[in-house]
Amino acid sequence: MTDLQALIIPDKVPRHIAIIMDGNGRWAKQKGLPRVLGHRSGVKSVREVTEAAAEIGVEYLTLYAFSTENWNRPPAEVTALMSLLVETIRGEIRDLNKNGVRLAAIGDLEALPKASHTALLEGIEKTKNNTRITLVLALNYSAKWEILRATRLLAEQAAQGLLKPADIDEHIFENALSTCGIPDPELLIRTSGETRISNFLLWQIAYAELYFTSVFWPDFGRRELHEAILSYQRRERRFGMISEQVG
Ligand code: IPE
Ligand code: IPE
Ligand code: MG
Repeated sequence: MTDLQALIIPDKVPRHIAIIMDGNGRWAKQKGLPRVLGHRSGVKSVREVTEAAAEIGVEYLTLYAFSTENWNRPPAEVTALMSLLVETIRGEIRDLNKNGVRLAAIGDLEALPKASHTALLEGIEKTKNNTRITLVLALNYSAKWEILRATRLLAEQAAQGLLKPADIDEHIFENALSTCGIPDPELLIRTSGETRISNFLLWQIAYAELYFTSVFWPDFGRRELHEAILSYQRRERRFGMISEQVG
């Protein structure tokens, strides 16, 4: 337990935290190491942050692990990231089960390399009965891809006469997204000092609190998560109303 954990108000812990894990490459470069060692080091942060989130009662943790734009990186880095994914999932299943972590994934999963896809499905299947926290990996994910896919799906249903266009509301649209059934994140964290969204969860973060830290992902751990949650808890979420209405 960090000294900060005691300051966290249990009733105000976000149900869902989403994280853009960024800065692995720069972390490695700073140390004169190859980028891929930054990614390897980032796995340690995933472990620590997942456990820390579960400990304080966060129900969903969504981690941006690979964007559709990341395919444009040098092929050797893409290959290394995909192997790291397979290796990590296989290696972690026992601990995920021990810690009550249910694995889930969003993104264009079928377009992942076969080995990564298989390992992922295996991980999801083997952890499906865990209930302490759900760890959602965003893999080959982009928000525009997801929104377009939902739009196409609903348009097809309408064309078949299964749905009236006028009936499409927020609820129906949300059910067509890959995050169907998962509450919107109340808190979105991005590490490494970049202050952009990079095509992550555009619909779902409509009212999320944004938290940016200059810490690189491999250096982000329990303490940094607690700091982010404390920042979140100090904010007033007004949802368009005025202070007196929500206070
Ligand atoms: C985040 O770290 C991991 C992925 C995007 C897969 P980066 O690899 O983007 O690290 P930087 O931003 O180059 O430092
Ligand atoms: C966003 O990070 C994607 C992931 C963390 C997986 P990037 O490092 O790819 O984003 P940009 O290129 O800086 O926007
Ligand atoms: Mg980056």
